[in-house]
Amino acid sequence: MSMSDPAHPEDATTTPPLDAVDGRTSDELLRVEDLTVSFPTDDGLVQAVRGVSYSVREREVLGIVGESGSGKSVSSMALMGLLPKSARVTGSVYFRGRDVLQLREKHQRALRGSRIAMIFQDPMTALNPVYSIGDQLAEAVLSHHTMPRKKALDRAAEMLDMVGIPQARERLRNYPHEFSGGMRQRVMIAMAVINNPDIIIADEPTTALDVTVQAQILETLIEVKDAVNAAIIMITHDLGVIAGIADRTLVMYAGKPVEVAETGPMFANPRMPYTAGLMGSIPSLEDSTNERLRPIKGTPPSLISLPIGCAFEPRCPLSTAECLETEPPLTETDKPDHVAACHHWQKLAAVDDPTAYFRTESEVGR
Ligand SMILES: Nc1ncnc2c1ncn2[C@@H]1O[C@H](COP(=O)(O)OP(=O)(O)O)[C@@H](O)[C@H]1O
Ligand code: SF4
Ligand SMILES: [Mg+2]
Repeated sequence: MSMSDPAHPEDATTTPPLDAVDGRTSDELLRVEDLTVSFPTDDGLVQAVRGVSYSVREREVLGIVGESGSGKSVSSMALMGLLPKSARVTGSVYFRGRDVLQLREKHQRALRGSRIAMIFQDPMTALNPVYSIGDQLAEAVLSHHTMPRKKALDRAAEMLDMVGIPQARERLRNYPHEFSGGMRQRVMIAMAVINNPDIIIADEPTTALDVTVQAQILETLIEVKDAVNAAIIMITHDLGVIAGIADRTLVMYAGKPVEVAETGPMFANPRMPYTAGLMGSIPSLEDSTNERLRPIKGTPPSLISLPIGCAFEPRCPLSTAECLETEPPLTETDKPDHVAACHHWQKLAAVDDPTAYFRTESEVGR
């Protein structure tokens, strides 16, 4: 949506001018460049994010996947300006060509909730228990636009209807505790899109929900995103969530991207052992006898004392002396637009089923 969109004349007064274009490609919406975040603590410096770069195109779905503690939330909070004061942040985050990390607090706030919206894992932390759903949705509109309250409530009802809440207008009077977990997450989706954002950052939006509800909520999120023409960054620890919906996927390990590619080709041809290990931990759809989860053995390294070499080395079945000595940079692989951080990605390219590297001996050959 442009600044001069006649449907949203209010934008001009509340959002910063973001018409600068510094060399970005025409459909590039967001570009994160060499983002780092560290936290000084009593035990030492926690290097939570160690050089994250990616871009998101208009309407694209980018998946960010990695185990708990890999820096997914911290990196997305950084680009929203939502980290605690103790956080040390370096790098750049260009939204429509303008570095949002350099914006004044007031302008950052104006971007949040309007152009860039966020959905969290637990809707109860984002919803206020003492206000009705209608009040909270209307407030989300009124904090970014000047309009009569009645009109804001109309918009709230329209959004609730769009996210699949029956009798939307009547339910505006309900309080958060009167909704189920899935319904509350629908309210959060309505809240995220109520100001027509350009991008939605969804951080584990379905992790707290039952599996069947998860699928419905993801479907609603994608429908709604298409209806408002927004892009999405879908953050999850579950590769299965990304599989059906992300155009491209970025895999994170110990604060760094270790593989980035289009999602289909990445699943077909992983070029980083960690990705192959994650794939092996998704229950197989074809083989119903193989439903057990096969998590990768071991745990990620401490972010306070990282190894010199590859951070995945202690858990990697393909590791060599080189892996202990040098941390592999993200490099091109044999596939187009497919980068991976592994000294030995060719070994994965040479086998039919890279996930087999992570099977226990008793499973091999079954
Ligand atoms: N305020 C903080 N102070 C110190 N360490 C933090 C803080 N917030 C997050 N971390 C650490 O940063 C790392 C990345 O966390 P996070 O981004 O939440 O992981 P993820 O979302 O991938 O599960 C973790 O090791 C976490 O403990
Ligand atoms: S660089 Fe070495 S240890 Fe790291 S993922 Fe590749 S093979 Fe494994
Ligand atoms: Mg997280």
